[in-house]
Amino acid sequence: MRLKTCLAAAAALLAPAVSLAGPVAHGVWLGRDAGAAQTPPMGWNAWNAFRTEVDEGKVMGAAQALVDDGLAKLGYVYVNLDDGWWLKRRADGRMIVRTRIFPSATTPDGATNFRPFTDRLHAMGLKAGIYTDVGHNACSQAFDLHSPNLPEGAAAERQVGLAGHVVQDVNLYVREWGFDYLKVDACGLADFAPDSKLVRDQGYIGLTPEIDRSSLNRTDNARVEQRYAEVAAALKTARPNGDYVFSICAWGMGNVREWGKDVGSSWRTSSDITPNWSSMLHNYDSAAKRALYAGPGHWNDPDMLDIGQGDFDTAHLTEARSHFSLWAMLNAPLLIGYDLRKASPELLAVLGNADLIAVDQDPAGNQATIAYDSDDAQILVKTMADHHKVVALFNRTAAPVKVTLMAGHLKLRDGAEIELTDLWSKTVVRFTGEITFELAPHEARVFAAQGPRDLVGGVYLSEIPGAINVVDDGVRRPQLDPTVHRNVDPWGGTRSGGSRPLYSGWGGAQADATPYGETLQIAGHPYTSGIGVLANSLLQVKNDDGYRAFHAMVGIDDSTIDRDHAVRFAVYVDGKPVAVTPPLKYGDAPRDISADISGHRVIELVATSAAGSDETPIVVSWGSARLEK
Ligand code: GLA
Repeated sequence: MRLKTCLAAAAALLAPAVSLAGPVAHGVWLGRDAGAAQTPPMGWNAWNAFRTEVDEGKVMGAAQALVDDGLAKLGYVYVNLDDGWWLKRRADGRMIVRTRIFPSATTPDGATNFRPFTDRLHAMGLKAGIYTDVGHNACSQAFDLHSPNLPEGAAAERQVGLAGHVVQDVNLYVREWGFDYLKVDACGLADFAPDSKLVRDQGYIGLTPEIDRSSLNRTDNARVEQRYAEVAAALKTARPNGDYVFSICAWGMGNVREWGKDVGSSWRTSSDITPNWSSMLHNYDSAAKRALYAGPGHWNDPDMLDIGQGDFDTAHLTEARSHFSLWAMLNAPLLIGYDLRKASPELLAVLGNADLIAVDQDPAGNQATIAYDSDDAQILVKTMADHHKVVALFNRTAAPVKVTLMAGHLKLRDGAEIELTDLWSKTVVRFTGEITFELAPHEARVFAAQGPRDLVGGVYLSEIPGAINVVDDGVRRPQLDPTVHRNVDPWGGTRSGGSRPLYSGWGGAQADATPYGETLQIAGHPYTSGIGVLANSLLQVKNDDGYRAFHAMVGIDDSTIDRDHAVRFAVYVDGKPVAVTPPLKYGDAPRDISADISGHRVIELVATSAAGSDETPIVVSWGSARLEK
């Protein structure tokens, strides 16, 4: 009944020939959902445990432990080499393996071959990953100069990165050698300035930096994207069936948070993790507010797990569990970075928590969104494929903290009984309305929540970020995200003059919040559910579950700074507008926009303004945006 009325209203708004400026609806799903990473990749990587001092025995030891400890069965199947495996680039461009540490790659002609190594892993039911750099040189050549495993030879022979050899190397790695996973780092674009002391001292051939680690403005974002896109294209050609993982490792630089999802299976959102609480917070924050940018086939990557070391070792199991819980809530890749040959049963129990792994690996790929935010405590809520909720209550501080969980945080019905099952202790508690927990220092408690949904017969878009593709978030000039925890730099300490925001992302589309982290509100009407985005944006929504109607209350958000320009909202199916509002101004009442989407797989939401790209962005809200049966 209600749907009919709304559709009639929408139809009345449609002029016979609608022409809309601004982002153009495509009619087809543009989200990157091909490839092997339908769920976040899981496995092991040599770096956090061994840095460049890796060898075949250590790697095969980890592989065997994955199998013997039952971790492979739980999904940890990638065994990934990191920096240090290479000897040099031959005159004809072929990369040569350092057979002193990877003896099985030895061949009589010296050409070397990693195929026996990947064959062994495959025969164990595992997959194999390899590492390279998108520039000419690798990170170890700048930061691990003491390493016994640095590339050798003349300057050109030591150019082990992909630059100038993209197709040749990609073919070698994923076709000839049979690797399934390619991690592509970016130090070659950042750390080898031709006039630097490093380049002079080491006799490298420099490259004018395209990434400035401390400055978004001095980074050539388009060039960085183009370089990674070339790798993506080469991978696609080399493995046309898409059966590979492409891991972009540009540490949140180059505005990768915007384009990473279209190019790779995952993209690092921050600098390297270190086994330190503050570093973990920093990396977690760098991905925690990017839910709308991730989904099946494309994942935010806050870096590998550092469980087993430092603040996350066997003596710090609360911290180890929190680190693991958060990565699972974020749908992060779960790559163990520990020498598994010596893992304690307690650590294996953390890494092997099947309930948490199921949270990370849920096929819907809905990264948790933040239902309550502060520097002390946070509540993260994730909607599983079957629409039940998983909630994490997280104490960021070193003191106990009280956290009250409300039905509303879960979008479950207030007044109905809700059952919480603790995914660590497996204990069950029930509550109605709200329940308070006292969290120990650094504790994260994670519960599966069952109870009647507030929205019956439908789902809010903010509950299904994995089904949303942010084609254009309206951000014209990338801005640094000031909400990422600013830790003392693990490498430079306090010599740098201060810890500053590093990663673009401020102003990006958000679930249940404005692009700047405020609550959604149109002309005095608050919305606890909805999407906040800038004008001149285009969001795609995948309707695989066969919903029949789209509804939202739209308008310019009260938080906007630009109050001058009007915005028109439109819903498209099959590339055609099916509901359009008149231009709405700041202060205009929220406008109902509804559309019949029966039988349509891709819904597109467009907000268009006449504001020029140099003007202050306009904040708009898709209040209560939802799909209904
Ligand atoms: C960079 C990456 C790390 C690791 C090292 C190897 O720092 O971010 O994950 O691969 O390089 O040198």
